Amino acid sequence: MKTAWCCMICTILLAVLGGCAYRHYLGLHGPSVRHYPEVHQGIVEDAECLDCHHPDRDPVGPPTSHPQFTGCLKCHNDQIEEK
Ligand code: HEC
Ligand code: HEC
Repeated sequence: MKTAWCCMICTILLAVLGGCAYRHYLGLHGPSVRHYPEVHQGIVEDAECLDCHHPDRDPVGPPTSHPQFTGCLKCHNDQIEEK
């Protein structure tokens, strides 16, 4: 029983620590790709976003300060379904 609790707490702790990189952005939404639907239409993959926004690739769009993030659309979406 005690061991089970310990495992649970450790798991939660790890999850919290793993989230540290995101803390700065917690609860924040970035500018929405909805502002430029014609550029972003049909884009669903992080890799696709980075094709145009990775700072080291002479990006077409504004370079992102956080190319290491995953799930770009979690913070920059809102619109793609709505369109
Ligand atoms: C946890 C939420 C979050 C995730 C995930 C995220 N972003 Fe952002 N993004 C933000 C916030 C908040 C801003 C505005 C503040 C800033 O520029 O740092 C921003 C700004 C940007 C900008 C700058 C827009 C401008 O006008 O300068 C770009 C480009 C961008 N993000 C692209 C991406 C890409 C590509 C990914 C995936 C690799 C991504 N973001 C993942 C929250 C996020
Ligand atoms: C085909 C290239 C291309 C792809 C792929 C692309 N973008 Fe963009 N993105 C652009 C361009 C170009 C702009 C700037 C448009 C302008 O300023 O007129 C832009 C602007 C942005 C902005 C700034 C919006 C604002 O209001 O400042 C964000 C955030 C963004 N893109 C995020 C993303 C995310 C997230 C993805 C992946 C779902 C993505 N982009 C995929 C080309 C692209």
